[in-house]
Amino acid sequence: MNLNTNFKTILVTGGAGFIGSNFIRYLFEKVQYDGKIVNVDKLTYAGNLENLADIDKKFRGKQYFFEKADICDYEAIDTIFSNYRPDCVIHFAAESHVDRSIHGPKDFIYTNIIGTFNLLEACRKWWDNSSYRFHHISTDEVYGSLGETGYFYETTAYDPRSPYSASKASSDHLVSAYSHTYGLNVTISNCSNNYGPYQFPEKLIPLMILNMLEEKPLPVYGDGKNVRDWLYVEDHCSGVWMVVNNGKNGETYNIGGENEWFNIDLVNKLCEIVAVKKGKQIDYYKKLLTFVKDRPGHDRRYAINCDKIKHELGWKQSVTFDEGLDKTVDWYLNNQKWIENVKSGQYTRWLEMQYKV
Ligand code: NAD
Ligand code: TYD
Repeated sequence: MNLNTNFKTILVTGGAGFIGSNFIRYLFEKVQYDGKIVNVDKLTYAGNLENLADIDKKFRGKQYFFEKADICDYEAIDTIFSNYRPDCVIHFAAESHVDRSIHGPKDFIYTNIIGTFNLLEACRKWWDNSSYRFHHISTDEVYGSLGETGYFYETTAYDPRSPYSASKASSDHLVSAYSHTYGLNVTISNCSNNYGPYQFPEKLIPLMILNMLEEKPLPVYGDGKNVRDWLYVEDHCSGVWMVVNNGKNGETYNIGGENEWFNIDLVNKLCEIVAVKKGKQIDYYKKLLTFVKDRPGHDRRYAINCDKIKHELGWKQSVTFDEGLDKTVDWYLNNQKWIENVKSGQYTRWLEMQYKV
């Protein structure tokens, strides 16, 4: 499909995080995007400029600009709009971890709701052209929890059940309201669980890999039978780019992996992949598996139906789960320095707060 890549200056929020940094890399390296990208990030515990060090070196001041700013600070956002005059906003910045939202929901309410509101207000002030686009990255978690069967469709009623998903649902509604009320040109994508390089090791896959390498317990919540639908981060990036360029104004698109796994099966699979790569017996790491107390309100199953983006925009996943996990494990095995740096920051303190170590 031909993309209408006419945007001259894209403001990416949260570009120092996991998906945002993969997205900026995708635009420069895969799409060979020739406009400007302004990365606006507060650099919370999850934001890491190291994720884009090579991109920064190559493109800074020419096509890539970094602005350390909090999206909750309207004045800062207004100044950035004034300085760069973006014609597209792709909004990744968020507090993104469900467990943290259970321990302390406040930052989620501020960043995910007020931060999104501020960005929408800046767009309303600065944009007089209806071809300018605001794209909002959201999650399948807004749809709630599924039983053993069924899927989330774009039309599924919202039923968020954690402070994280409730804050994301709220921001989705705001984005949609700005489309209806003010005619802002918006699109929203709701994706399933991403995995891949540069993911902060509080999320299931990198946490398990790193714990294996340190021979620490592998904490599986509850009975391990919760189901997640895993999407390789670069496939998510290609979907977002298609929606940004060719998605219909005001529409929502689901982006999923069509790749459901029980947590326990996934962790066992990871144990085997890491064992082979480390030259251990295939079951070596499985002895570390530890069932721990369940997450409060733990959603049982997520599964996305993504026929709409496939049929309307021609998107499809290009990385199989075996390939994606292989690349991901290799990335963590080969990026010891990144791991050390992340660990010397807040990661360790967060783990200490938990029952995980
Ligand atoms: P992440 O936690 O890795 O990164 C979030 C980034 O946002 C960080 O760089 C952080 O510094 C920045 N940020 C946080 N608060 C900010 C603020 N107030 N102002 C400016 N920047 C701020 O998150 P991620 O996994 O890359 O997720 C990106 C987006 O995708 C989020 O909106 C999330 O809700 C959504 N999402 C993620 C997943 C997933 O599996 N990771 C799945 C579905 C949806
Ligand atoms: P997570 O990566 O936190 O993503 P989300 O909660 O947004 O789906 O968790 C993925 C699944 O793995 C979820 O069902 C919770 C479970 N989980 C564990 O069993 N142990 C862990 O240590 C973590 C972080 C998650």
